[in-house]
Amino acid sequence: MKLSIFDSYENLSAFAAEQILNTIKSKPQSILCLATGDSPKLSYQLLVQEVIKQKLNIDRVHFVALDEWMGVSPSNSGSCHYFLTENLFTPLQIKSENIHLFDAFAQDAKKECEKMNEAIRALGGIDLMIVGVGMNGHIGFNEPGASETEYAHVAELDSTTQQLGQKYFSQRTALTKGMTLGLAHFFDAWKVLMLANGKKKSSIIKNAFEGGISTKVPASLVRKHNNSEVLIDRDAASELADATKS
Ligand code: F6R
Repeated sequence: MKLSIFDSYENLSAFAAEQILNTIKSKPQSILCLATGDSPKLSYQLLVQEVIKQKLNIDRVHFVALDEWMGVSPSNSGSCHYFLTENLFTPLQIKSENIHLFDAFAQDAKKECEKMNEAIRALGGIDLMIVGVGMNGHIGFNEPGASETEYAHVAELDSTTQQLGQKYFSQRTALTKGMTLGLAHFFDAWKVLMLANGKKKSSIIKNAFEGGISTKVPASLVRKHNNSEVLIDRDAASELADATKS
């Protein structure tokens, strides 16, 4: 694992966008797995700008959503579907066959997860997985205590996620379950890029990087991944011991 600390969210995001760009350039048929939320938002916007500026052909790239709130419509601006469409798929004019999203209304959610697993398998696996860090340390909707060997599954969201998830929604929304890629996908991904910024993440970042490596704090598992890079800003790093701050 490589941990890098940036002076600002802007610099962190520019670096992340460059990493994503480099992945696509070195493998034009890359499979990218994408978290949504505040952490990767600017990285995606900068990525879009660069792809357009450099006239990069990304026709062969496939995009896989990391997760989705169950029962939330794609037209709801708080859904992962909406976020990725707005921030990436529409501006980059991605063909629908290259987009792999969870259906939040699937009749059989287990089957929907199996479908996602199969799509990822058929594509040859995830090349780059971009993840954020929840305030409870979750990765995707792999909440504290999630299995390290599970692939896509339905997750019961813990109370922190149910409450803090409200920030994405314009009105109070029931957020009890999610569909998520599993920690087995995380470990299988060729590379993981983990992003966290802001003072509010400093305590969970300290836990994840200076506490034990355990599924009790899923983000700590990034230390066990054999090709992972963690990008955090100074605020998120502010509770880490001095040695790691340079
Ligand atoms: C969202 C996701 C979540 C977020 C995490 C951090 O697709 O997978 O695990 O990455 O909750 O969210 P932000 O970045 O909004 O602080």
